[in-house]
Amino acid sequence: MRVLITGARGQVGHELLRRAPSGFEVMGLGSSELDIGDAGSVESTLRQLRPRLIINAAAYTAVDKAESEPEQAYRVNRDGVANLARAAAEIGAPILHISTDYVFAGDAQQPYLETDPTAPSGVYGASKLAGEQVLAEIHPRHLVLRTSWVFGAHGNNFVKTMLRLGRERDKLGVVADQHGGPTPADSIADALWQLASSYRSQGNLQWGIYHFSGAPACSWHDFAVEIFRQAGQMGLLERLPRVDAISTSDYPTPARRPAWSVLSCSRLEADHGIGQPDWREGLRRVLEELAG
Ligand SMILES: NC(=O)c1ccc[n+]([C@@H]2O[C@H](COP(=O)([O-])OP(=O)(O)OC[C@H]3O[C@@H](n4cnc5c(N)ncnc54)[C@H](OP(=O)(O)O)[C@@H]3O)[C@@H](O)[C@H]2O)c1
Repeated sequence: MRVLITGARGQVGHELLRRAPSGFEVMGLGSSELDIGDAGSVESTLRQLRPRLIINAAAYTAVDKAESEPEQAYRVNRDGVANLARAAAEIGAPILHISTDYVFAGDAQQPYLETDPTAPSGVYGASKLAGEQVLAEIHPRHLVLRTSWVFGAHGNNFVKTMLRLGRERDKLGVVADQHGGPTPADSIADALWQLASSYRSQGNLQWGIYHFSGAPACSWHDFAVEIFRQAGQMGLLERLPRVDAISTSDYPTPARRPAWSVLSCSRLEADHGIGQPDWREGLRRVLEELAG
């Protein structure tokens, strides 16, 4: 079964390519090969390649920069998704799409359900929500996987930033009043391939919005402490920095971050048998790969 992966050079796209199960003919296109914001290119590429399924891992992901260049964020995260949805509907291929915890306001105290009201606080979250909405309007056969705090060995993420800062500094301040679920990029890829495999064997899938993130929920500070604990065990850093807990107000950023980003993932488990990965195990895999 032929599967097209867009955004194939990103963190998740990269893992999708290298973790494809046998029996799939995978075509991965990076942004230089297919710009999803270009409606004509999307249409002609899909008509030419005729994939049976599309996994969209392309997105504008610069959360802070999006505040000053909303047009670019919307061009990819809303219009790019609409372009894919139209062209996919035309060739009869469903879409597996990735979205974010940032669609929520972040002021809850319980893990967010798929049915909870959305209220993004920044441009990035708003553009991703707009993408979910255009996809639902244009192409009924779609599945949205909302995830959070993605990290992998490939690309830029919090784990790599912590390792770099840990080499440069004796102590770091890390935000302790924002909670979420770190999610290994390889686990997201595996979840998407499991969904693709179900679609292939059943010829259909239970479509809709699903949450998928790593467990247990933690703060960025907890995440940083575990990164340095494991990095220390592996001898990845010569000396470990002190990691101080700070509050969001001590670390201002252009985009406001949700204080509570924890996603309830039981719907994906109930409908598709996909459970939450333990991010600490994913972290070990990433650090081992980085250690080479
Ligand atoms: N990173 C996170 O913490 C996080 C959290 C929650 C949800 N998500 C979602 O997870 C998905 C995967 O994110 P990621 O972490 O893998 O992001 P990433 O590493 O930034 O990858 C995104 C990829 O999309 C590509 N892209 C950007 N504009 C494009 C365009 N117009 N056409 C085609 N490709 C384009 C980028 O290519 P260039 O680099 O060449 O621009 C990049 O390779 C996204 O939907 C994201 O919104 C991410």
